[in-house]
Amino acid sequence: MNILILGGGGREHALAWAVMQNPKCDKLIVAPGNAGIAQIAECAALDILNGASVVNFCDENAIDFIIVGPEAPLAAGISDRLREAGFMVFGPSQAAAQLEASKAFTKEICAAVGAPTAGYGHFTDADAARAHIRAHGAPIVVKADGLAAGKGVIVAMSEAEALAAVDDMFGGEFGAAGAEVVIEEFMEGEEASFFVLCDGKDVLAIGTAQDHKRVGDGDTGPNTGGMGAYSPAPVLSDDIAAVAMERIVKPCMAEMTRRGMPYQGVLYAGLMIKDGQPRLVEYNVRFGDPECQVLMMRLGAQALDLMLACAEGKLAEAQVHWADDHALTVVMAANGYPGDYAKGSVISGLDTLPADSFHMCFHAGTAREKGQFVANGGRVLNVTARGSTLAEAQTRAYSMVDAIDWSGGFCRGDIGWRAL
Ligand code: AMP
Ligand code: GLY
Repeated sequence: MNILILGGGGREHALAWAVMQNPKCDKLIVAPGNAGIAQIAECAALDILNGASVVNFCDENAIDFIIVGPEAPLAAGISDRLREAGFMVFGPSQAAAQLEASKAFTKEICAAVGAPTAGYGHFTDADAARAHIRAHGAPIVVKADGLAAGKGVIVAMSEAEALAAVDDMFGGEFGAAGAEVVIEEFMEGEEASFFVLCDGKDVLAIGTAQDHKRVGDGDTGPNTGGMGAYSPAPVLSDDIAAVAMERIVKPCMAEMTRRGMPYQGVLYAGLMIKDGQPRLVEYNVRFGDPECQVLMMRLGAQALDLMLACAEGKLAEAQVHWADDHALTVVMAANGYPGDYAKGSVISGLDTLPADSFHMCFHAGTAREKGQFVANGGRVLNVTARGSTLAEAQTRAYSMVDAIDWSGGFCRGDIGWRAL
């Protein structure tokens, strides 16, 4: 079959790498892709937020199956446009994508089914939000309701910080995303990510991961999109995952179906675990980035079969074949990230790296200039390895990092420390 993947980051490189290994894939196009993806698949310039353009492209290229990587096209309704045109899609509808696009929507779904999560208030008015903060005190969490590229959450350790966040959000710092604000109880515990597929009827767990959000070693410094990840997440034991499935994921998915917006695609549940009990931090309606890279490294070619079963409504018959293995990815970012950074620095040594089912350097933001790879984003490379232990995966990943010559970039030296 002819497959189109929408997106152009490390997540989409990992998806492409897994899909390409499956003999069901005759042709793969990634739009827009990047310089690393271009080494394994055809890349096409396409405005992936424009439904009409994507439908047209799929018609012209006889595409049979579309996998949507990022949240923005999902929240803009790309799956609906493609399904209306008769295409098979892996990704939720615009209505179902509210589970990521609106924090108030998710809190309300959780409340309707009694899924354990932080207590909250939902505000469209700054005075009421300030009164709520004064009544509850700090620490407290202030969130812009809508999509804010991962920047709309302020974990405030003081009341003053929380009040300032309310001023910023209602003052327009996050544009329309901040016109409504959710204020949550601060949850303590250890965070982990739980990934499931859902076809509107059945739910299938496909893996767990943990990421490192802070830019510096020892989990210090500002938040980022993720500086590294590993799978499985030891804190998310089988028992805790089963509780998360029965008390959080399945009831929410059933509620979505009951409301006439069945969820189809991957659901990424961010969980906070304390005293062996999971609570929901947030849902995302896509694979995590860089969590997808470690999941794909472990799932390999079967990832396509699973995504197809999901899109065809056949998850009840699907199974995940686990190897007893571990994967770890180290993000290499441009100097300055997550603040200002330069593009265009040359990266050498990439062609000397091993590329097999134990080692892959996925590209998150690279371009090709004069025959060389250059940095073209904040997070640039995802150096990923698999092993029979997490320590082995870590050693393999860092030995690849050592073989990369890039003075314009940096990485954390301690990815995986919490689990090791
Ligand atoms: P979110 O975008 O909702 O995942 O929030 C970003 C990060 O903020 C999460 O990964 C947590 O580390 C933190 N966070 C969000 N909500 C809470 C909460 N209620 N209590 C503690 N930390 C939170
Ligand atoms: N790595 C966090 C995310 O993809 O949201």
